[in-house]
Amino acid sequence: ADYAQALTPPMGYNNWAHFMCNIDEQLFRDQADAIVAKGLDKAGYDTVTVDDCWMQKDRDANGDLQTRSETFPSGMKALGDYIHSKGLKYGLYQDSGTVTCSGGDYAGSYGHFDEDMKLFASFGVDYVKMDGCNVPSVAGETQEQTYKRIYFEEAQAIKDSGRPMMLSNSAPAYFSIPTKLPAWYSVMDWSGDMSQLWRESWDIDVYNTANPSTSRWPGIMRNYDYNKPIQRFASVGHWNDPDYIIGGNAGVSPVEARTQLSLWSMMASPLILSTDITAIPDSFLADLKHPGMIAIDQDPAGIQGTLVSSDGTGEVMYRPLSDGSFAVSLFNRSGAQATVSTTAAKLGFAAGGSYEVSNVWTGEKSTTAGAFSASLGSHATELLRVTPVDGAVFAAPSGQIMAPQE
Ligand code: GLA
Repeated sequence: ADYAQALTPPMGYNNWAHFMCNIDEQLFRDQADAIVAKGLDKAGYDTVTVDDCWMQKDRDANGDLQTRSETFPSGMKALGDYIHSKGLKYGLYQDSGTVTCSGGDYAGSYGHFDEDMKLFASFGVDYVKMDGCNVPSVAGETQEQTYKRIYFEEAQAIKDSGRPMMLSNSAPAYFSIPTKLPAWYSVMDWSGDMSQLWRESWDIDVYNTANPSTSRWPGIMRNYDYNKPIQRFASVGHWNDPDYIIGGNAGVSPVEARTQLSLWSMMASPLILSTDITAIPDSFLADLKHPGMIAIDQDPAGIQGTLVSSDGTGEVMYRPLSDGSFAVSLFNRSGAQATVSTTAAKLGFAAGGSYEVSNVWTGEKSTTAGAFSASLGSHATELLRVTPVDGAVFAAPSGQIMAPQE
């Protein structure tokens, strides 16, 4: 995979967690307009992706995919042109199997990767999301061998299309723990060779149409738990993707929405918004555009944060940053107010020196000799950017994590 296409974690928009299959071309024009009107493009959210259900069930006589003309009457190329006219990039979904994931029986790409990627290129697509539902089992191959073979074929089809489209690969999600270890790890290993980002676990809870206010917190926590031990697979150019940012939707409180951004930025995760951007609350919009949060997520060193401690109430993560500072998240996972703390020693620093602390969300500045602590409401997170000064020295065993440079 061409690393240079994703030097920092991709940022953008996808309709799935809010609209699912209830989409049409006007919806994407409205979302693109809102992204620009609200300044999200300037903040880095630069790609608008159309997820499942844009295609018909049957291919045409030439074997080409057909757009659902009742919902996308102008066609997918015209939609791409519109998105490009707004200065945004264009993402489009397909599936590696015979039919896509939605259950709508829409044509998948299996057996058609070359012509489909050429078609995507002719639409002006910049970013391909390749899902992994309904992949047939192949005699003489394990499931993992089949996925590996076809995902490499897809990557080759993208290359052969002549258009440098970024590839978001969903294969690891079909091997996720606890059922398919150790294949999950090997799938993530090769994912870095052929794609810029990969979905590695379950869908973060999608909108519950029957009961929209159902809490989505369990889905956020599940994907966080999957993603936090796999930092070794992420680095500059290729990223673990724990799925969409779902703040702004019913079932996610403002505190939980901010926590998701804090944790996702600690984990160098793609920031792919999936809500109705036209109706986003102003306070959440400000969180999405927060330069301090984005700077952590997009730090050019590209090191995914690691878990420092977890006691059932508080969870602490540490992420070294390119300028010698580091980020710390103090997260209250419990259902009640709690104090969450850590120390420079627990983060791997030798005694002595001091630390300049910037509270990312509040902007508050302070100095400490090495104690980091916050009293937090349920599900809240304090995100800190910390600069070691006065001779503070990183002393963790060599090879463990990158030492901040003084
Ligand atoms: C899978 C993916 C989702 C979405 C749907 C579409 O479940 O993980 O993100 O693309 O398919 O059907």
